[in-house]
Amino acid sequence: MLTCYDFSFARVISDSESVDYLLVGDSLGMVLYGDEGTFHVKLEEMLRHIQAVKRGVESSSATQRPVILGDFVLGSYDSPEQALESARQMTAAGADILKLEGPVLEIVRALVSKGYRVCGHIGLTPQSIHEFKLQGKKPQDAERLIQEAVDLEAAGAEMIVLEMLPSGLAQRIQEVIKIPSIGIGSGPHCDGQVLVLYDLLGMNPDFRPKFLKTYDQAYERIQQAVKSYSTEVRESRYPDQGHFYN
Ligand code: KIV
Repeated sequence: MLTCYDFSFARVISDSESVDYLLVGDSLGMVLYGDEGTFHVKLEEMLRHIQAVKRGVESSSATQRPVILGDFVLGSYDSPEQALESARQMTAAGADILKLEGPVLEIVRALVSKGYRVCGHIGLTPQSIHEFKLQGKKPQDAERLIQEAVDLEAAGAEMIVLEMLPSGLAQRIQEVIKIPSIGIGSGPHCDGQVLVLYDLLGMNPDFRPKFLKTYDQAYERIQQAVKSYSTEVRESRYPDQGHFYN
């Protein structure tokens, strides 16, 4: 699973035929808008990004297209009624599965009873925990997190994101529940992994936590491409022959 927020990336990732799920996460507030957290994103913004990702996926020629997850933004699932209305809108925008943070069991049950597919998210849940640090280190916190996973499964969630847990705890959770666990910063024992796309591409030199492996140096490479363009324009080497209309 990868996060994805726009048309172009949705198309290129879909065309790679290598990713099962695209998560239109509320991390878009930080990654795209430069917010200090995920809590400023509005439902209307989420809907717009889900629509863009949906169009990107649909424009792909891949035979096996990724499934789209939409993220409930803070304040869009405070009651079952509100969650159902937000779910209706996110699904209409193109989301196949809806992700929410924390052990909000009543909300999960309400959504599942109306046929919505739900993904849980426990551990470091950025809508309520604003300090970026490992969760579940104390035994009582670890037990609570195991119980939250069990409860979410019983409420009808079909998968759970485990964020920033010690790998041993993530393994215990993975063993206790039957639905897939999707880890981020939670070690190798989860059934799947999710990363923020821009992080894996190496777009943010200021965010390099231990768990993050960057698979590109996009920040440096984009700078290089932009510099090459600027230099060629300043030196009148662009537009060159073949790059204008006679
Ligand atoms: O919003 C997001 O990108 C997420 C992932 C980090 C799991 O919730």
